[in-house]
Amino acid sequence: MIASYQGRCQARVDTALQQLLRPQLDELARLYEAMRYSVMNGGKRIRPLLVYGACEALGGDLANADGAACAVELIHAYSLVHDDLPAMDDDDLRRGQPTTHKAFDEACAILAGDGLQALAFSALSDATLGQLGDSTRLQMVRALAQGAGAAGMVGGQAIDLGSVGMKLDQAALEQMHRHKTGALIEASVVLGALASERARPDDLKALKTYARAVGLAFQVQDDILDVESDTATLGKRQGADIARDKPTYPALLGLEAAKAYAEELRDQALHALRPFSASAEPLRELARYIVERRS
Ligand code: IPE
Ligand code: IPE
Ligand code: MG
Ligand code: MG
Ligand code: MG
Repeated sequence: MIASYQGRCQARVDTALQQLLRPQLDELARLYEAMRYSVMNGGKRIRPLLVYGACEALGGDLANADGAACAVELIHAYSLVHDDLPAMDDDDLRRGQPTTHKAFDEACAILAGDGLQALAFSALSDATLGQLGDSTRLQMVRALAQGAGAAGMVGGQAIDLGSVGMKLDQAALEQMHRHKTGALIEASVVLGALASERARPDDLKALKTYARAVGLAFQVQDDILDVESDTATLGKRQGADIARDKPTYPALLGLEAAKAYAEELRDQALHALRPFSASAEPLRELARYIVERRS
């Protein structure tokens, strides 16, 4: 079920992303090439899947979720391009290929990331993508800005870089993870719910509880995979966190306790979806996938 659902939604978002990433001017061919390189390179598309899953859970029209699905993936792709830069994690491999600054150059990677970020907001506000009212679009722009910015992902990246070599306690580690990865995952679910234009306050509350649990589980699993997967499967360097002395869940709790925590968070996420019918099955499958994935 998850494989066919994932395939369908990945194809959907990839078609829309291709459209958005067409070069505007011949002089900008290299910049657009770097932007496309950073996006169209085999990401799992988990955030778009969460957008579509939340929209579907509320019985919405997936065509109205395309802008949001593109937007969250564009923010995510930009965050990875910048995360890999020498000034940040200094990684040379991403999604099985050289990182953007290795394939192009650092300045080009910085600008490609900047361009992707602005394109995300353009995709959300573009009235040709779907049939959403302006007030819904405005709420979506606000939710994405919060998830992506200093109150969300960027803030988490700052905490991450400021914590290298430090021993964080579990509360501080959770605070970092909730910002770094959880905030954009929560925004993805909220955007999908808003795109349905059917979300009642109770629905939003339940979906946010789901998203918070899944968001944290996602980064716990990312930390676990850094320890126990391998570079070929991951498509990024295994052991990078240990090499850089990053605070992670396995480092704090030990590998087995970190795994148990990821499973507990998955169960919390599934519990939050109890009020929903079979329409939330894609979200349930995603919660399971997020802790079972090997890459
Ligand atoms: C990796 O995210 C970076 C984190 C936020 C932990 P993903 O595992 O979703 O990466 P892709 O998009 O599939 O490459
Ligand atoms: C990155 O976290 C989170 C982002 C906001 C990009 P990591 O630094 O753990 O991501 P990977 O392991 O390099 O994909
Ligand atoms: Mg990082
Ligand atoms: Mg990194
Ligand atoms: Mg990681």
